[in-house]
Amino acid sequence: MSVIAKQCPDIQVTVVDLNEARIAAWNDEDVNNIPVYEPGLSEIVKEARGRNLFFSTDVDKAIHEADTIFISVNTPTKTYGAGKGLAADLKWIELCARQIARVSKTDKIIVEKSTLPVRTASTLKDILTHTGNGTKFQILSNPEFLAEGTAVKDLLNPDRVLIGGDQNEEGRKAMSALIDVYANWVPRERILTTNVWSSELSKLTANAFLAQRVSSINSLSELCEHTEADISEVARAIGTDSRIGPKFLKASVGFGGSCFQKDILNLVYIARSYGLTEVADYWEQVIIMNDHQKRRFANKIIRTLYNTVNGKKITFLGWAFKKDTNDTRESAAIYVADHLLYEQANITVYDPKVHKEQIYTDLDYLASRSSDVNEELVQVESDPYEACKNAHAIAILTEWDEFKSYDWKRIYDNMLKPAHIFDGRNILDKQQLEAIGFKVSAVGS
Ligand code: UDX
Repeated sequence: MSVIAKQCPDIQVTVVDLNEARIAAWNDEDVNNIPVYEPGLSEIVKEARGRNLFFSTDVDKAIHEADTIFISVNTPTKTYGAGKGLAADLKWIELCARQIARVSKTDKIIVEKSTLPVRTASTLKDILTHTGNGTKFQILSNPEFLAEGTAVKDLLNPDRVLIGGDQNEEGRKAMSALIDVYANWVPRERILTTNVWSSELSKLTANAFLAQRVSSINSLSELCEHTEADISEVARAIGTDSRIGPKFLKASVGFGGSCFQKDILNLVYIARSYGLTEVADYWEQVIIMNDHQKRRFANKIIRTLYNTVNGKKITFLGWAFKKDTNDTRESAAIYVADHLLYEQANITVYDPKVHKEQIYTDLDYLASRSSDVNEELVQVESDPYEACKNAHAIAILTEWDEFKSYDWKRIYDNMLKPAHIFDGRNILDKQQLEAIGFKVSAVGS
């Protein structure tokens, strides 16, 4: 929404949320305090806020005044009832729809921005047309393809913008209104239109294909570790085939983030609900592989440290699910930590952007042990050199650039020997570290 406000000074954009603390943070005088860390975002907020970008908790007023409403609420995986662990929880979507229906006095375009399972638009339409007061709603699907850490770049220069709408005159009119917004900066040929269902399914599918590539390369990383092959070399070799391409072939400790797992589980759930067992199993394997990769990484640490990590200090560099974000949702670090804590390791975490409270919240959310035990076993440091002092091993969980330029000799000198590094992101120079004296183990080599 901030990028739309920046690119379209004539459009008034109001972002509303019930959470007062969150909105207050978005309105913080110091733009460096906004709740989301994303390169380039604070500059955009600074430019547009107060001009045509507003953050408010007055949801009713904003609905009342809007011509177009983007629904961008959470659609987490259900943690209860039917579809538990697979289906998306649409509670927030439904509450939003009911509030829009209650408040609206003029016709509006409703845009599904949240990633939704296929055919959610019909639920939305049902609620809007049956509980409203005679106003007309057009529902569009406009899924977001930005990746975190590169969000601003992706939004300013998207590969494509996808808009799904009803294939009738009113639907086309609504689509063209939204096309006009994006056309302020996106070339027309990159704005694709489809029917609503294709658009909804495309989002799940795009993420499933990307995650599948990561799981594919990760599955081969294990084979490489048992042979003389090196996964980075294999990735380079296959990536030069133009049909395969070089992107998304980095072996890692496993993918994380708010989308991949959730969307694939959703796809699996939809396939199962239509009785398509083979389709569901096929995609579920991407998740099984990813869980295996995280567990395998933790097990390797335990095995290398002579099969016991009890009481040993293991330092995690990185907690976010990828670099350049403070988002930790589904981060591999959480699961690797959980596995090591089960073996009663002491973990010290350093991440350049993730707050201490978030790390404890993530561990407590798993409910594997009491929060007292988490606090006892896990320390959070704000200085990487302090974090590594007296550690038996360092594990790299996020590919932050700054890790590459550390004084590794200084870190080595202050660690217990033998000093181990487990590079879960393959970002460090193995030869250089081994020359210092480290024992290095990277994913897939
Ligand atoms: C993803 C999609 O890329 C984006 O289009 C969609 O809108 C939302 O979901 P995001 O979750 O922000 O974006 O990050 P992404 O860059 O896709 O990375 C996902 C995970 O895969 C990260 O944990 C990343 O570290 C991991 N990954 C990615 C790898 O392990 N190896 C790779 O080669 C690429």
